[in-house]
Amino acid sequence: YWLGIDIGTGGSRALLVDAQGKVKAGFTAPHEAMKMERPLWAEQCPEDWWAAAQKAVQGVLKEAGVSGAEVKAVGLSGQMHGLVLLDEKNEVVRPALIWCDQRSQPQVDAINQTVGKANVVAHTANPMLTGFTLPKLLWVRDNEPANFEKAKKMLLPKDYVRFMLTGEHATEVSDASGTGLLDVVTRRWSGPMIERLKLDSSLLPEVKESVDVSGTISKAAAAATGLKEGTPVVGGAGDQAASGIGNGIVKSGVASCTIGTSGVVFAYLDRPQYDPTGRVHTFCHAVRGKWHVMGVTQGAGLSLQWFRNHFAPGVEYDDLVAEAQQAPPLSHGLYWLPYLMGERTPHLDAIARGGWIGLTAKHGRGDLVRSIIEGVSYSLKDCLGVIEGMAVEVNSVRASGGGAKSLFWRQMLADIFRRGISTLENSEGSAYGAALLALASAGEYKNVEELCEAAVKEKDCLIPSVHESAAYDRGYEVFSVLYPTLKPVYG
Ligand code: XUL
Repeated sequence: YWLGIDIGTGGSRALLVDAQGKVKAGFTAPHEAMKMERPLWAEQCPEDWWAAAQKAVQGVLKEAGVSGAEVKAVGLSGQMHGLVLLDEKNEVVRPALIWCDQRSQPQVDAINQTVGKANVVAHTANPMLTGFTLPKLLWVRDNEPANFEKAKKMLLPKDYVRFMLTGEHATEVSDASGTGLLDVVTRRWSGPMIERLKLDSSLLPEVKESVDVSGTISKAAAAATGLKEGTPVVGGAGDQAASGIGNGIVKSGVASCTIGTSGVVFAYLDRPQYDPTGRVHTFCHAVRGKWHVMGVTQGAGLSLQWFRNHFAPGVEYDDLVAEAQQAPPLSHGLYWLPYLMGERTPHLDAIARGGWIGLTAKHGRGDLVRSIIEGVSYSLKDCLGVIEGMAVEVNSVRASGGGAKSLFWRQMLADIFRRGISTLENSEGSAYGAALLALASAGEYKNVEELCEAAVKEKDCLIPSVHESAAYDRGYEVFSVLYPTLKPVYG
């Protein structure tokens, strides 16, 4: 068997696959909720990820009745962009600033000033964003000099778990792409970025390709997880590239749409291609020598989770969605802006704010929930639109992630995108991609593309319905004017 471990935002999931890439078992251990001490701040404790990862691995081995010795290799995937700092004893210096933390606008401005905005794109293939790891690192340098002084290594979330598993400080190209420090074209750390910002390059871990082995399970990690000492751990991928592998997005023409805490539209690239205004990310793919482009909605599943936590505690998501289904398309003229943690695609605005526009006393909970699902889907259509605007071909879209488990939401995506939305026989996303990357390293397949072709199969495809699509076209038109109109209000 081959094991994938995904360090998500809500929890860590371990998944076992067999030699054909068929899922044997999965097990999830939840994380503590992210701490949001101030608006725009979001932190989690890396130690909690490691504790959850151990539970998930023990859990999946037990559930599958598989011994650690039967696991041939491990792949890792995880939430991207988070800043983990380790001191000289490899202890965590401070809680991680995670992907949706948006506090670092002053540092983004300083980077643009020091390096030059155009040079940032030339060196990294992307504009600098508050969500990326580099400005978070500089925030610590500017605001917590004692912590910065202590820090000897900077790791991404899954790479901290890799360190705990193997004792190695390593990352891989897809996740490193989201730091703001990788030259995405050459797939190496950017010398000019490091020099201009006066960083010590020893802070950075070694960068591998996703299918390359990065280390082996240590004795201590074997005792903690039940895996066998010496088992190889491959590079793996950031959760979106891993999900790209899990969804078989390894050739042109097929894109994926993943609705997790964030929402992502993801397409494969043979060569680096950019949106001139940087509204989508051009990152290394987990496929050797290939790239991908993705648009990100910060508050996708997060919007619904926020609503449930505050206004429908204890109500099952399925029941909330059933209420939404009772409301008509366009939710009686109610629009949801999903910018609860600022927005990336297409607005690139860390201080954008969420909210409803169009409330009347007639609106009930079903309308509110439906408008949230509609607003998130419009925002994902924004992502698809930017990608298509780059002349990247998208013929069909594969849906994955928690939100896409809902048939109602998938049909809405089909109607709003005016595209067939397919699901896969196996919709395990990132954890599955991580497991496939481990399996690809075994050498039985020529490469990860060949493995994906063999293992990832479409199950069904929802077709857009003409009537609903026309209604949503009108809704999207209204949605599209709301952000520009409200922008002055955000300050
Ligand atoms: C991708 C991104 C999120 C996180 C959390 O750029 O920020 O998808 O990886 O899942």
